[in-house]
Amino acid sequence: MGNCFNRPAKCAHASSTLFHATGNNNTYADRQAPLESLNKSIITSKVDCSVTSNLKSFSFNDLKNATKNFRPENVLGEGGFGCVFKGWIDGNTFAPTKPGTGIVVAIKRLKAESFQGHKEWLAEVNYLGQLHHENLVKLIGYCSESDNKLLVYEFMPKGSLENHLFRKGVQPITWATRMKIAVDVARGLSFLHGLDAKVIYRDLKASNILLDSDFNAKLSDFGLARDGPTGDNTHVSTRVVGTQGYAAPEYVATG
Ligand SMILES: Nc1ncnc2c1ncn2[C@@H]1O[C@H](COP(=O)(O)OP(=O)(O)OP(=O)(O)O)[C@@H](O)[C@H]1O
Ligand SMILES: [Mg+2]
Repeated sequence: MGNCFNRPAKCAHASSTLFHATGNNNTYADRQAPLESLNKSIITSKVDCSVTSNLKSFSFNDLKNATKNFRPENVLGEGGFGCVFKGWIDGNTFAPTKPGTGIVVAIKRLKAESFQGHKEWLAEVNYLGQLHHENLVKLIGYCSESDNKLLVYEFMPKGSLENHLFRKGVQPITWATRMKIAVDVARGLSFLHGLDAKVIYRDLKASNILLDSDFNAKLSDFGLARDGPTGDNTHVSTRVVGTQGYAAPEYVATG
């Protein structure tokens, strides 16, 4: 994992006050059109216009202002794609606002040296621009100004499941909550698999399971997702992608 500032990133802790949302988190939800059918050519070389009509196109300057020039104090976390910043925008106009006013959002900024980053950015916009479900994180908008590629999501106040399971000093979550999270994740996957396109998520891991203030879980990161087999087109790639982690022994043995 890289570093956004050439020094250890100050990441918001799951129990830190940085995770407390302010304002109304739902104001943008109503704007998103319900999913009717998933666009078949979802991964194209450019952003799909029917998708972007559901999303806000931000200028780089807007997002610079929303994060106070990508201040290190606003870093929520960092992954292979780049850093994720806490930012503030107006719930109606989406214009950047002062910290503590408007709604809180999570802004993911592609780092220049991100391997495969542009392709993942595009897949994320094209999938999450069309897919809406209570167990998928909401994509509010994006920025694409030359090499500046950013994504703007609803803010998930309790951060990732990974932080709750593995970060030192975090209060362990109860078994009942763990079971509820597992069911939420299964609901999200079931929704994807039930679509005409039978979307295969391919990046299921604790850091991609985000939690709202009531520990409702949502899947995030659709950069590696792809359409499943349909009709006579039955081939499914078994190439392992994403982060190395647990894989069932029979899967490793047989592919
Ligand atoms: N919408 C969000 N709301 C709140 N925190 C978020 C949000 N999205 C991401 N984060 C935080 O930022 C961290 C980094 O997320 P990101 O998806 O960039 O990388 P990752 O999933 O941890 O790693 P990888 O790049 O290997 O998939 C997450 O672990 C989480 O703590
Ligand atoms: Mg992630």
